[in-house]
Amino acid sequence: LMSVVVLISGSGSNLQAIIDGMQSGQLPIQISAVISNKADVKGLERAANASIPTHVINHKEFSSREAFDRELMATIDQHKPQLVVLAGFMRILTEEFTNHYLGRMINIHPSLLPKYQGLHTHQRAIDAGDSHHGASVHFVTAELDGGPVIVQAKVAIDDQETADTLAAKVLKFEHQIFPQTVQWFAEHRLTMEGNQALLDGKPLDKTGFQ
Ligand code: GAR
Repeated sequence: LMSVVVLISGSGSNLQAIIDGMQSGQLPIQISAVISNKADVKGLERAANASIPTHVINHKEFSSREAFDRELMATIDQHKPQLVVLAGFMRILTEEFTNHYLGRMINIHPSLLPKYQGLHTHQRAIDAGDSHHGASVHFVTAELDGGPVIVQAKVAIDDQETADTLAAKVLKFEHQIFPQTVQWFAEHRLTMEGNQALLDGKPLDKTGFQ
């Protein structure tokens, strides 16, 4: 089984989708640890319920981003993961950190990247009058929300859509594309070559679900 460490900051519904895949035997992984930068979040409960070791590393207790990232890195590496998964982890990472896990760290972002990097993606898509929105799973590089996209899920934005209804719609698809990506990686089918994600050595047709 492939060792995976998951980083979270909140509810952890994406973590849950990956736990479910692990427990059903669909994903050939072992989640070695869940690390949160916030205490008392629901994602930590989800991990504990699945008997997964947890760590809280509060970014506010560090004098710099570099110091926080070094502690995070040391904690992750204790578990010797082959894959690091950012599942709603809401901290910007240093280049030292992203380079250390280059090609073996993935993130899920709630937009059709390269559109709407950063925060408040659902509201921004509505305000722009977009017909569609979605989520992207990508390899993490030093560029914020900028690494090679692996798979996207696309949803229509309805007339009466609010940021909350749209977020809920997108989240349902996140729970499909994120475990799918973890499965590909765990099966050694997914690689990052330069600025491209490859599945079975070939560039991906990114829109896997819509
Ligand atoms: C998800 O929608 C994820 O795409 C987003 O946070 C949410 C976490 O939900 N991530 C980001 O915005 C990263 N910048 P969850 O804790 O229930 O998985």
